[in-house]
Amino acid sequence: MLQVILHQPEIPPNTGNIIRLCANTGTQLHLIKPLGFNLSDRQLRRAGLDYHEWTRLTVHEDLVSCLKLMNNRRIFAVSTRATHHYDKTDYRDDDVFLFGSETRGLPAEVLANFSQDCRVRIPMMPASRSLNLSNAVAVIVYEAWRQTGFSGSIQEHVSADCGSGYHPV
Ligand SMILES: C[S@@+](CC[C@H](N)C(=O)[O-])C[C@H]1O[C@@H](n2cnc3c(N)ncnc32)[C@H](O)[C@@H]1O
Repeated sequence: MLQVILHQPEIPPNTGNIIRLCANTGTQLHLIKPLGFNLSDRQLRRAGLDYHEWTRLTVHEDLVSCLKLMNNRRIFAVSTRATHHYDKTDYRDDDVFLFGSETRGLPAEVLANFSQDCRVRIPMMPASRSLNLSNAVAVIVYEAWRQTGFSGSIQEHVSADCGSGYHPV
């Protein structure tokens, strides 16, 4: 199972979107305290999450204790300050992805623990600062899940092409 860690997330709707994304992709989600909101926050609840979508969520007191639970899994820091593009890595279905908070990103002292190969970046146009956190998580999780065959998903219905697939009424 893929694992996503959000380091001290601040904005409830982002975390709400990510909870749903993780439920939809069979990903385990970890939140590192302090959180910028209460988990019972109205804005988080407004994401309309079902009970089962909360079951893949764990809250940790700090990053170190969370990372200890990852055993021998590979951990990638996802950062605007990385140089390797995210799509150049061959992901495994138990990889772990660590994301920074909305306003601060990942602290320099956390990023310093990762070799360049384990820091990944999503390309952007030159003047861009960053993607929204939940969009960044979606890009990374879907790439890792795609590479690992969308394991556990509903089976694909394979058709040859969609050449005559549009039939206006
Ligand atoms: C809104 S961004 C943080 C912006 C912060 N000022 C920075 O530069 O790191 C929140 C998180 O989303 C992820 N993120 C957003 N855009 C990204 C990109 N282009 N490449 C890699 N990670 C990105 C990173 O994990 C980042 O810490």
